[in-house]
Amino acid sequence: ETVEWAAESYDMGGHDTYMHKEIAEQADAVDRVLRGRIDDRFATVHLGGLNLDAREARGVRRVKILGCGSAYHAGMIGAQLIEELARIPADAEPASEFRYRNAVVDPDTLYIAVSQSGETYDTLAAVQELKRKGARVLGVVNVVGSAIARETDGGVYVHAGPEVCVVSTKCFTNTAVAFALLALHLGRIRDLSVADGKRIIEGLRKLPEQISGILQDEAAIEKLAADYAQAKSMMFVGRVRGYPVAREASLKLKEVSYIHAEAYPASELKHGPLALIEPAVPTVAIIPDDELLDKNRATLEEIKARSGTILAVAHSEQEKADHTIVVPRNEPELDPILMGIPLQLLAYHTALALDRDIDKPRNLAKSVTVE
Ligand code: AGP
Repeated sequence: ETVEWAAESYDMGGHDTYMHKEIAEQADAVDRVLRGRIDDRFATVHLGGLNLDAREARGVRRVKILGCGSAYHAGMIGAQLIEELARIPADAEPASEFRYRNAVVDPDTLYIAVSQSGETYDTLAAVQELKRKGARVLGVVNVVGSAIARETDGGVYVHAGPEVCVVSTKCFTNTAVAFALLALHLGRIRDLSVADGKRIIEGLRKLPEQISGILQDEAAIEKLAADYAQAKSMMFVGRVRGYPVAREASLKLKEVSYIHAEAYPASELKHGPLALIEPAVPTVAIIPDDELLDKNRATLEEIKARSGTILAVAHSEQEKADHTIVVPRNEPELDPILMGIPLQLLAYHTALALDRDIDKPRNLAKSVTVE
């Protein structure tokens, strides 16, 4: 597959930080990961570099996705998409854990390594260990020709363009979209109907415009960030599709603002973390208007009963929340792609209010190429 780093350059383009620039570039970046890949006739997508023919794709019994940090969180979204659209059991695991636990390597499992840089040592070492044991490993990678891109059997390039800020934003979003494409492709080779394939394609096509719309609400998010910058700690919760979004938003906030943050499945709150809820510990709740909405609303009530402040990211105003960021509806499977975007802006403006070194947070490197 040939790739060009399109329109963007390393120029700041009038933004004060690369993080802000990269958040703003997401509509174009998503447009790029979709470009030339959609096949309307068969309601599927073409992924040129996959090196997995239809017969091999049908033989896949499980999918195991490996990555670190934001790449791992994008992989969690990917695993859910593959289960939902292709009905193949799938899960994600930190590559750093996988490589140390002498994992059982199964010939019918498709392994997928996820990485922006393609150079993260833990992820590369997991790929090498898998290859040594004879597994088939694909890459979902941003940097073309990087070590992980070279060592995998094939894969999907993410086409996010160069990402300079240590904190991943546009690459995270594009990686999640790349997984939606892979899941659609696998699904249409298996049992996903033409109607569902078309439904997902329509949803994918809507994403760039919806992302631009979300980014237009920046001023409102900036106002919220002034309040949340005073928090002692923050709790991020979501159920199923909302959970990886909560994980990533929590990582983003702590990386760039240094505010302590936890992420939990909303269903787990009552099993312990509820003890942390108090006025100085606000909760961000990811609550799409899906089959779990009522359960999520009950969680908001539990938090309110403990005097916790709530910021909801939802498809409609949430009565129990102190503030709601309303995001546009898409197909439910694609909700995680959109719901994280306002929270990137929240992390950015919180860090700005606290005068943090946004592009180069303390103690962190863009890619961790050592053990
Ligand atoms: C993202 O905000 C972080 N800087 C970090 O978690 C990163 O995603 C991780 O180190 C993996 O990097 P990679 O995608 O280049 O492999």
